[in-house]
Amino acid sequence: MQLRQETAAGILVLTVLLLVSAVHAHNITRILAKHPEFSTFNHYLTITHLAPEINGKTTITICAVDNAAMNELLAKKLSINTIKNILSLHVLLDYFGAKKLHQIRDGTALVATMFQATGTAPGTAGFVNITDLKGGKVGFGAENNDGVLSASYVKSVEEIPYNISVIQISKILPSDVAEAPTPAPAQQNITSIMSKHGCKVFADTLLANAAEKTFEDNLAGGLTVFCPMDDAFKAFLPKYKNLTAAGKTALLEYHGVPVYMSMSDLKSNNGLQNTLATDGANKYDFNVQNDGEQVTLKTKVTTARITGTLIDEQPLAIFTIDKVLLPTELFKAEAPTPAPAPAPEPAAADAPAAPKKKKKAAPSPDDSDADAPADSPDEAADLAADDNSAGRFDGIGYGAAGLALAFGFLQL
Ligand SMILES: *[C@@H]1O[C@H](CO)[C@@H](O)[C@H](O)[C@H]1NC(C)=O
Ligand SMILES: *[C@@H]1O[C@H](CO)[C@@H](O)[C@H](O)[C@H]1NC(C)=O
Ligand SMILES: *[C@@H]1O[C@H](CO)[C@@H](O)[C@H](O)[C@H]1NC(C)=O
Ligand SMILES: *[C@@H]1O[C@H](CO)[C@@H](O)[C@H](O)[C@H]1NC(C)=O
Ligand SMILES: *[C@@H]1O[C@H](CO)[C@@H](O)[C@H](O)[C@H]1NC(C)=O
Repeated sequence: MQLRQETAAGILVLTVLLLVSAVHAHNITRILAKHPEFSTFNHYLTITHLAPEINGKTTITICAVDNAAMNELLAKKLSINTIKNILSLHVLLDYFGAKKLHQIRDGTALVATMFQATGTAPGTAGFVNITDLKGGKVGFGAENNDGVLSASYVKSVEEIPYNISVIQISKILPSDVAEAPTPAPAQQNITSIMSKHGCKVFADTLLANAAEKTFEDNLAGGLTVFCPMDDAFKAFLPKYKNLTAAGKTALLEYHGVPVYMSMSDLKSNNGLQNTLATDGANKYDFNVQNDGEQVTLKTKVTTARITGTLIDEQPLAIFTIDKVLLPTELFKAEAPTPAPAPAPEPAAADAPAAPKKKKKAAPSPDDSDADAPADSPDEAADLAADDNSAGRFDGIGYGAAGLALAFGFLQL
């Protein structure tokens, strides 16, 4: 009896786990919202996009400062990127509740911060020195601040052992390194970043196309690029060359998203994502889906995995992916031959469907590239060749068919 109840509970947990997991994780914005004296600090955690990064980490300590201390910082009129560096120095990558702070082994400790973790901080500049002082005081200083502990512990704000501790310190920790102006990402050359890090073929292709300007135009307002690694894009070039001029531009723009999404944004926000190619009825979207720690991008035709981060600094993120994203607007999902026997009338979107039916469900009414090369019989073989194992392709084929049906249904 009890076993049955546990099984039922297990199923319930499994069913809703994905939906509610965000509720169980801490939310720094919500924690600080209960304390108006930290509203400015809270606001800047949001606009620097540090909040989702904090929410994605555990065993951390946030050294918050009150509005007066934040106003001192803001009076320096620093860029938002510099403020982000400074605030990330206030996120300690270890858990310090009030008790632990007053019981530091040997009375002093160096703690790595999120600033250290960005790789922007040279040497030990991203470490904070915490030292127990006389009379129960605890001093805080940036490691590169000539041994001066300029701030001190004020109070504990909230402790969720051992996930997150929010404490108040008296002042912003001064750090010349964190305050040094960082090059604004708007000045970043995205094609050169990609060229230098394994995506040269994609970058060169982009440079030769009008789509490059679309990427540049979106840079200042926020841009996320998913660049296929050289092997993947090289293998795709014959198919790329077969596309119409408009198809080429759309294919390239399909690899950019007109908002900045950090890795933790991607991990916490699954679902349909518009791209730079999205234009009214031309959806050109794909699904962001987590598979454990792995983030995947799914079109009805391909599933690409994120394999690396080239830059993740507001407003620009560039991630490498292991496959070219093939939009359904240009490429049709074809199943390998011989085709499986036709499935019964698909009752649910996730039922495996015969590939012939999927083809009917997939095209959108505005499919201007209906006669694009994707419809050639070679496409199925090419796609199958893209996957290492035929068995795996089968699975993807069915998944794509299910998705296609779902989309077809949505489009009706
Ligand atoms: C601590 O974090 C883990 C992982 O996110 C979560 O499962 C757990 O519920 C959190 N604990 C508390 C007390 O919030
Ligand atoms: C955190 O809380 C804020 C304020 O309540 C809310 O707007 C935001 O969506 C929450 N973030 C997450 C990831 O739940
Ligand atoms: C932290 O700073 C204090 C004061 O300058 C110094 O005495 C102490 O050695 C430092 N602690 C560490 C671990 O470097
Ligand atoms: C980026 O660098 C490439 C050469 O690596 C150059 O051709 C291109 O014009 C540059 N783009 C911008 C926007 O400066
Ligand atoms: C390019 O298009 C032609 C004509 O539709 C087709 O025969 C050929 O197989 C296509 N090549 C590739 C690589 O898709």
